[in-house]
Amino acid sequence: MNERHKAGIFLSFFFVNQPEKIDAVSVPEFSRKICCFDFVMHEIERFSMKRILITGACGLVGSDLVLALQEKHGAENVIALDFQTACKTFRGIFEQADVCDSERLRAVVRQYDIGQIYHLAGLLSVGSEKNPDRAWTVNLGGLKNVLDIAKEADIQVFWPSSIGVYGKTTPHVNVPQHASFEPNTMYGVTKVSGELLCQYYWHRYGVDVRSLRYPGLNGYKAAPGDGTTEYAIHIFYGLIRENRYECFLRADSRLPMMYMDDAIRGTIALMEAPAEKITIRTSYNFTAVSFTPEELVAEIRKISPDFEIIYKPDDRQQIADSWAQTIDDSRAREDWNWQEEFDLPKMTQALYQGIKERLENV
Ligand SMILES: NC(=O)c1ccc[n+]([C@@H]2O[C@H](COP(=O)([O-])OP(=O)(O)OC[C@H]3O[C@@H](n4cnc5c(N)ncnc54)[C@H](O)[C@@H]3O)[C@@H](O)[C@H]2O)c1
Repeated sequence: MNERHKAGIFLSFFFVNQPEKIDAVSVPEFSRKICCFDFVMHEIERFSMKRILITGACGLVGSDLVLALQEKHGAENVIALDFQTACKTFRGIFEQADVCDSERLRAVVRQYDIGQIYHLAGLLSVGSEKNPDRAWTVNLGGLKNVLDIAKEADIQVFWPSSIGVYGKTTPHVNVPQHASFEPNTMYGVTKVSGELLCQYYWHRYGVDVRSLRYPGLNGYKAAPGDGTTEYAIHIFYGLIRENRYECFLRADSRLPMMYMDDAIRGTIALMEAPAEKITIRTSYNFTAVSFTPEELVAEIRKISPDFEIIYKPDDRQQIADSWAQTIDDSRAREDWNWQEEFDLPKMTQALYQGIKERLENV
């Protein structure tokens, strides 16, 4: 039992014996005892839970995931880690570290008594093609460090794979959970290898590692990176700044996508699902909506009818062409009840509002 557990138990006894101490919540008399019980249970949970580490916390996914987990478990239970410095608006516990430095990572895990790691740090598709050696080192070396530490300290791990695992030999429409995966990008190579590594650590060492093949994720709380699907975020910056956008993909490039709130909800749901429900230990197919740039433009023109789009496909078109257009994620839906909430019109509105507010506050 550590100091935090002891503090939690002390606090519980204190409030159970003195319910009047929770006057601050100002509830009617008759419900005070019930409220006291809930409050105490909540405090026990907060004080006795092991903490959560999120690597790559400053990135597009990390920025949203940190906020969601802070809200759910309390800011004191969430440790954000990145090799960048935290952004000015960040509130919470932050550690600057490189996931390739296993000793530093191990020290952070010990210092905060970590029970769960969401390992998001890595290079995306375009960055990986620019620097394949670095992609190999960070995407796979970092993952192996996390899995080794998880094995030693009985830590549950989430690691995102990607639609980047799909390649030319994968069916492009309604990709099944199990198919041929022969990606021709370094990003895809690290994701296929990473999936197998996760499954190996589960079978060989019992590490409770869970994974999703994220489609293109569209959020606004961090600046978009250099992923191939991220045209679908950059386009809103173009819309708001100059009512035009030069798209690096063809008008008809259909790709699987998801609004960030759905991705975060799905990620946390997967981690909270009972272990016996998890039948896939490589990575689950996971999707919400598939659309093309021209379908997105049609939605955007409901906001701004004279929005101008110019299509100038570049190297990223080849990457997009090698990926799937639609995905069969029925295993995720059957195993742990995955269900998206955002379709294309709802996502378009949410991104427009979010990016507009972000740009107004810069
Ligand atoms: N964004 C998407 O659409 C998408 C789709 C599929 C999969 N994914 C996966 O989700 C994860 C997160 O993606 P994202 O969009 O947030 O990426 P991002 O590029 O926005 O963020 C990655 C973060 O990792 C950090 N990082 C990189 N190398 C590091 C290192 N060595 N040590 C510590 N931190 C390091 C970066 O500073 C950055 O803040 C990645 O594994 C990515 O492959 C993302």
